[in-house]
Amino acid sequence: MSSELSAASPSALTPAQIAALQQQAAAVAHHAYAPYSNFRVGAALLLTDGTIVTGCNVENASYRLTTCAEQTAITSAVALRGPGIRIRAIAVANLNDTASQPCGACRQTIHEFSTPDTVIYFPAAGGSIAQATIAELLPAAFVL
Ligand code: THU
Repeated sequence: MSSELSAASPSALTPAQIAALQQQAAAVAHHAYAPYSNFRVGAALLLTDGTIVTGCNVENASYRLTTCAEQTAITSAVALRGPGIRIRAIAVANLNDTASQPCGACRQTIHEFSTPDTVIYFPAAGGSIAQATIAELLPAAFVL
């Protein structure tokens, strides 16, 4: 695993925990509905209470209505555990063997349920896994 953007944060997981979360993200990516992009993505959230919740991208013929894997997972987590959830870590995987970081909209959604230390593990160049905190990915988040 490479550390593309950040050193280990207080929320960093062990290599075994990261591998398990990545495996769950890759598994749920097989459920993706992505007939338009053929880019199948899965996300696995580790909540601060230890719960793991997964999600995949769900596309739409009206492209802009597409929901990203991260957003699906977070929506499910709120439905399952309520509005007080906090995300400790997120693993993102795709089935296209390519580097991919969370989009800007997902960063704002992740921020809503995160602490500054929430860490995101995502596919990087050469098949490695990069990590960054949400504060690094979205240093100037919108807050109301
Ligand atoms: N996508 C995600 O689900 N998560 C990401 O982190 C990057 C992009 C989806 C949205 C769309 O269905 C497809 O990937 C191509 O952009």
